[in-house]
Amino acid sequence: MEMDDMRVLVTYATVHGSTAEIARAIALTLCRTGIDDVDVLPASEVQDVRPYDSVVAGSAVYGGRWRKEAVGFLERFGLELFHRDVWLFQSGPLGHSAQYIVRALPVNVGVFAEYLRVKGAATFGGKLDGMKGGPVGKFLARAGFGGDYRDFEEIRLWAEEIARAVGMRVVMSRNSNGRLSRAGVRR
Ligand SMILES: Cc1cc2nc3c(=O)[nH]c(=O)nc-3n(C[C@H](O)[C@H](O)[C@H](O)COP(=O)(O)O)c2cc1C
Repeated sequence: MEMDDMRVLVTYATVHGSTAEIARAIALTLCRTGIDDVDVLPASEVQDVRPYDSVVAGSAVYGGRWRKEAVGFLERFGLELFHRDVWLFQSGPLGHSAQYIVRALPVNVGVFAEYLRVKGAATFGGKLDGMKGGPVGKFLARAGFGGDYRDFEEIRLWAEEIARAVGMRVVMSRNSNGRLSRAGVRR
């Protein structure tokens, strides 16, 4: 690995897996823009953030809170994160206007956001499988909130903003099949 290789960590906390899929989608977009090395790890499994230039950290929202593994990640690595570029995301809102919901970060996460001077924070719609999630999940499903409200186009655009911010030039090109695809080169 060359000295100036760029490394980005995407880390997440999930219960039912849908936030992990968002994290992987973010990581895939970052890779496609040409970032050399993108790791995706559950928040509880991160041993060290020092190898990374930038960190994207997110959590599913349950009962208005981030999962404790994600909060624990911010607590464990606060000082190292202070010296890195950090982006935060959360996934939760359900229902057909989920992508329009502007949800503030939970208070205990917001304090990290303020003092880490995070570069950006995003809220993405969530996914609810009515058969999971205990009594509240079943209530939500019966009330009509079951389904997948994640918008992967929105997620990709957000990840491209991150790529631009770390110095990648995100360009659009057409594949041989005529579909638009994005690629990036280091500026
Ligand atoms: C018991 C329960 C509580 C929830 N509480 C919230 C909440 O307070 N705010 C919110 O935006 N979404 C809430 N949700 C929706 C979840 O955040 C959403 O289903 C999310 O996509 C789950 O992510 P995961 O699959 O990574 O666990 C809740 C879901 C369940 C089942």
